Amino acid sequence: MKPKIIDNFGREHTYLRISLTDRCNLRCFYCMPEDGIELVDKPNIMTLEEIIGISREFVDLGVDTIRLTGGEPLIRKNFSFLARELSNLGVTLKITTNGIVLDKYLDLFEEIGLKRINISLDTLDKAKSVFITKRDYFGRIMANVCECLKRGFDIKLNVVLINDVNDDEINDFIRLTESEHLDIKFIEFMPFKGNEWDWSKGVSEQRILDTVSEEFGKLTKLEDPAHSTSRNFRVKGYKGSFGIVSTVTNPFCAGCNRIRLTADGKMKNCLFAVSETDLLTPFRKGSSIQPVILNSIKEKKFSRDGMDLKMDADHYEQNRSMTSIGG
Ligand code: 5AD
Ligand code: SF4
Repeated sequence: MKPKIIDNFGREHTYLRISLTDRCNLRCFYCMPEDGIELVDKPNIMTLEEIIGISREFVDLGVDTIRLTGGEPLIRKNFSFLARELSNLGVTLKITTNGIVLDKYLDLFEEIGLKRINISLDTLDKAKSVFITKRDYFGRIMANVCECLKRGFDIKLNVVLINDVNDDEINDFIRLTESEHLDIKFIEFMPFKGNEWDWSKGVSEQRILDTVSEEFGKLTKLEDPAHSTSRNFRVKGYKGSFGIVSTVTNPFCAGCNRIRLTADGKMKNCLFAVSETDLLTPFRKGSSIQPVILNSIKEKKFSRDGMDLKMDADHYEQNRSMTSIGG
């Protein structure tokens, strides 16, 4: 029988998140450090063929779901070729995008059966969007969100909540779920290298729930899907739903089934992992990477790469910045 990617806590890893590029066409302040990041040189980035080849090894070891992330995955050259090839591996393919160029890919997504799209959208206000992303693409992103909904894609909006920036919009996002089949994911602000994290800027799960309940009354708790990283709810009678990713105040690591692959071919056992395993070098040499993957997962810590009790700056400053992990 084929070995599976099982860690020392008995967790089987079937979900691979691949960062296709560390580049992005936005500059969200909480993600991209102010002076930018040192981009990886092109020769050290996996080619499309290498992404497909490495993915094939993961699928052989039991991975059944692949999410494409970035930076911004849709700006990777020849994205369509890659998405088609990955969909041929027989996995459920998903994507997280900032939505700017989504319209160019919706036909492709329908063709290859990619239905689940997470769009990062932190505000419903154009001026605020410019402040957060340092670019002016709000109109295009909103138009693309509407188009996706019209075409029946399964859409989640990722909202990173930051105090005094967008915490006043929690209920505006909830209102969108009244008539739209849409899921809002509120994400607690997390620390990564260079993003000047400070929990006083964060908005906790409890505060989000209080804010929503105060306006909308008693919420219906939904059943959380297996391996879910969020707790999910619905306002009574509403079509859509919302969930909270409470990585800081209430982490959900027990059922983790995720592995990450960076654009330069490093396997990360955890979003917060400071040590990584190079898969690209052995893959380029033609040696089997399956034993490397199986060994690496044994190093996985139970929760937040060992930051069990609190987020520790000595730890997370050694991590990458979010824009090169991909979430
Ligand atoms: N904390 C929480 N979420 C973040 N994201 C980027 N940086 C952070 C952070 N510091 C989100 C993006 C995107 C998802 C992949 O992760 O907004 O939606
Ligand atoms: Fe913003 Fe996502 Fe780009 Fe980061 S990767 S700067 S969160 S759009």
